[in-house]
Amino acid sequence: MKEEVTLKIEGMSSPCCAEEIKGDLLKIEGVKKASTYFADKIIKVEIDTEKATKEQLIAAVKEAGYEAVVTEGKEKIKFERQLKDLAEKYSISFQVLQDHWNFVKEASATVFADCCKWCHAHRITEMADAEAFCKSAIAEGMGEPETADQLFKIKKKVQALTDKEIKEMEAEHYGTLAEKYALKGNPCPIRREFNKTIYTAKELASLPEIARNLALGCGNPVSFADLKPEEVEVDLGCGAGIDVILAADKIREKGKIIGVDIAPQMIEWAKKAVAQANLGNRNIEFSVDDLEKLKLSDSIADTVISNCVIVLCPNKDLVYGNAFRILKPGGRLAISDVVLTEPIDPKINERFKSTWRGILGGAIPEKDYLEIVKNAGFKDIEVVKRHIFTPEEVFMMSQCPGPEFVSATDPEDLKVLEGKAASVKFIAVKPQP
Ligand SMILES: C[S@@+](CC[C@H](N)C(=O)[O-])C[C@H]1O[C@@H](n2cnc3c(N)ncnc32)[C@H](O)[C@@H]1O
Repeated sequence: MKEEVTLKIEGMSSPCCAEEIKGDLLKIEGVKKASTYFADKIIKVEIDTEKATKEQLIAAVKEAGYEAVVTEGKEKIKFERQLKDLAEKYSISFQVLQDHWNFVKEASATVFADCCKWCHAHRITEMADAEAFCKSAIAEGMGEPETADQLFKIKKKVQALTDKEIKEMEAEHYGTLAEKYALKGNPCPIRREFNKTIYTAKELASLPEIARNLALGCGNPVSFADLKPEEVEVDLGCGAGIDVILAADKIREKGKIIGVDIAPQMIEWAKKAVAQANLGNRNIEFSVDDLEKLKLSDSIADTVISNCVIVLCPNKDLVYGNAFRILKPGGRLAISDVVLTEPIDPKINERFKSTWRGILGGAIPEKDYLEIVKNAGFKDIEVVKRHIFTPEEVFMMSQCPGPEFVSATDPEDLKVLEGKAASVKFIAVKPQP
């Protein structure tokens, strides 16, 4: 027999978690369908009761690292009672009424879900605003313009962001992300797996928890930066300090490391991570700064590294201009960043740009990116590695760890990026005069 089971999930803090759990549930024999309702922390599962049990569903969720309870609750019982009363009053069979209700529920949920997706793709990310818009759009579609008007409370405009807005948004969102997940860890399972592919198990094991929890890179620049003892190294967009700590192992006591990030909270956690790594006595400095306006002095660094940051900066020419300026002549650049392997439809590009927070908002074709590096004055630019993102990684880069931080992108737009978004790792040199 077919039965719909509603699971309330504890700890499901991102759409990625919801997708992961859904995937696990669908692997159970007898599970026919699973639909996630991330905002309500709910997954509805349709099972064949002869093959699958509720206990199996709960166990699968637990196995994935979350807790689930079956919610049927008082409301469902109350609603069924009302349906029965209605069936009696109008002499309609209860089954017919219930089938009709299920049809209406499913159809309206689909319309609502599509509308929400649209909202997120167009930066209407506040749940209240998205709901107001969707309800109003549905009312309008049903020929109730007055109701639609009352419901329509959108204050936010769908428009291109200014560079200043982008940077304010980055600082706010990465700052909040740091505060929320420094101790708990990133809830996105794809990110947790991805980090295991960019750092070695030994490196990850050597890192303090804070740095691991807030690791948001797309490569491991320290692994190809050829850092030497006693050098001065600057990490542009250091986040919570993962690469600063790894660099400390190479740079040794007499060298110096400077981490810069636009989000003050990231810097606070980076300082805690450095202390946790017992590097408190080392020459490591942090500063809150915008890479486009970097205040560091000229010719101070032997190496500049950066990991998954410059893609987020609207004016990459200014960032690479500053990287060039702070490097000593002969100094080296070691960068890992996100690029497009080929240009994409300009309309889709515009949509990504309007939701900049997802790493993909600022991604440009690799050829144009490396041209910016060259125009800043760098020589001997050499790509050491390139990794084309898997569809899961594209999803992660565009929406983890959730709509609170990244405006969800239209899945159709994301599909276009499959095979066309990559992380590129390269080195370059500031020539001697
Ligand atoms: C994807 S995270 C990467 C952090 C770190 N490099 C890592 O590998 O974990 C991007 C970081 O860049 C910082 N950021 C974004 N725009 C910036 C800007 N204009 N200037 C300085 N930092 C910026 C964010 O605050 C965030 O910490």
